[in-house]
Amino acid sequence: MNREHWGSRFGFIMAAAGSAIGLGNVWRFPYVAGENGGGAFLLIYLAIIAVFGFSLAMTEIALGRATQRNPVGAFRQLGGRLWTPAGYLGVIAGFVILSFYCVVAGWTLAYIGFMARGLLGSTDPAVLGQSFEAFIGDPWIPLYYAAGFMALVVLVVSSGVGRGIERANKWLMPALFLLLLILLIRAVTLPGAGEGLRFLLMPDFSKVSGATFGAALAQAFFSLSLGMGCLLTYGSYLSRSTRIPTTTATVVGLDLLASLMAGMIVLPVVFSFGFDPSSGPGLTFVTLPAIFASMPGGAIFGVMFFLLLAIAALTSAISILEPAVAYFVDEYGYTRRRTVSICALVCLALAVPSSLSFGHWSGLKILDRSFFDLMDYTATNLMLPLGALLTSLFVGWRWAAGARREIFEGTGIAGIWISVWLLVLRFVAPAGLVWIFLASSGLL
Ligand code: PFF
Repeated sequence: MNREHWGSRFGFIMAAAGSAIGLGNVWRFPYVAGENGGGAFLLIYLAIIAVFGFSLAMTEIALGRATQRNPVGAFRQLGGRLWTPAGYLGVIAGFVILSFYCVVAGWTLAYIGFMARGLLGSTDPAVLGQSFEAFIGDPWIPLYYAAGFMALVVLVVSSGVGRGIERANKWLMPALFLLLLILLIRAVTLPGAGEGLRFLLMPDFSKVSGATFGAALAQAFFSLSLGMGCLLTYGSYLSRSTRIPTTTATVVGLDLLASLMAGMIVLPVVFSFGFDPSSGPGLTFVTLPAIFASMPGGAIFGVMFFLLLAIAALTSAISILEPAVAYFVDEYGYTRRRTVSICALVCLALAVPSSLSFGHWSGLKILDRSFFDLMDYTATNLMLPLGALLTSLFVGWRWAAGARREIFEGTGIAGIWISVWLLVLRFVAPAGLVWIFLASSGLL
């Protein structure tokens, strides 16, 4: 069967950037940067992205393009049966991630409506905190929204690579950047915004510790969608004529830009109204609505902000589902439409306990964590680093010559950079990943 390909390089860049730019950029980055020393964190993050993120992203794309397969097929073709678990890990991680990602994405859809209908009119975070808890604790309503969100994902992914994924991203990503730009202009022109910008950009090295590096590393590869075969699968729809280094650099640059813009929106807004930037995950759903309610034109900016989050989540969710879909379509010859619906239903079934863990089942703890936290932790802290570790070891030690040809041939890139790339794959990335692995499991 002929494999479908992206219609253009632009289409691939939008799709890969759509995967990378998600809740991780808009919801997570601002407060992680805020908690870890602002500009100091940013410097470390930039270095990690440039060296580690960029090398690994190129490598994943090369694995996909060279084999034209899904993650399992790609590892089997190049490494034999021994390496297929690296591919399966990605397929399974997709289900785990999407099961909690769609719950949060559902909240963002709901909040677009709440904002538009003026239901979040209070300027008191305590009141908004209560209504947020009441909403996410409801047994049914958040699940309806999660199901609605999954229906959108199904609609896009089942239409195929070109007519579905590429077309959606080609419209949604420019829209996302437009929303980011409008919100950025609004945020930096608020009185007192300078304080927030200073907080984000001025390095405070007293807050830097070993944990900062771990946080930056984890944020970098979650943000770049590394370690679960997303970029590998998207790379498998890429044609030979595309240059991997420059294309990857564009995607990584866009991801970084989106994170910076999100930070420059959220933090000035928070500072301008005198709130605490380290209020963590609740920042988005509790603090920001309070601020929008007290800001001139806040309702409209609030709608835009949650629309931005929903778009970011949608384009990422599409890419999280695709490796599993590609696996079943490639390996078993199932039709795309049927596969997509079944995979989405499995994710949704797993989303039920995740969503209920904020309400009816909040007392249920597995290994000391709620079901939602367990899924998040297993995927983000264990499966993704492990996937990235196996990928860098495999390519660094077993497929280095092939990857080198796939990525650098005909690009005119100097040999020294190629040596750096190989050094990163063989030593720097594995050491860094083992370190976050140990640090996040409390062993270090
Ligand atoms: N990169 C996405 C974000 O920043 O929200 C999340 C993500 C997508 C993680 C795809 C992993 C993945 F494979």
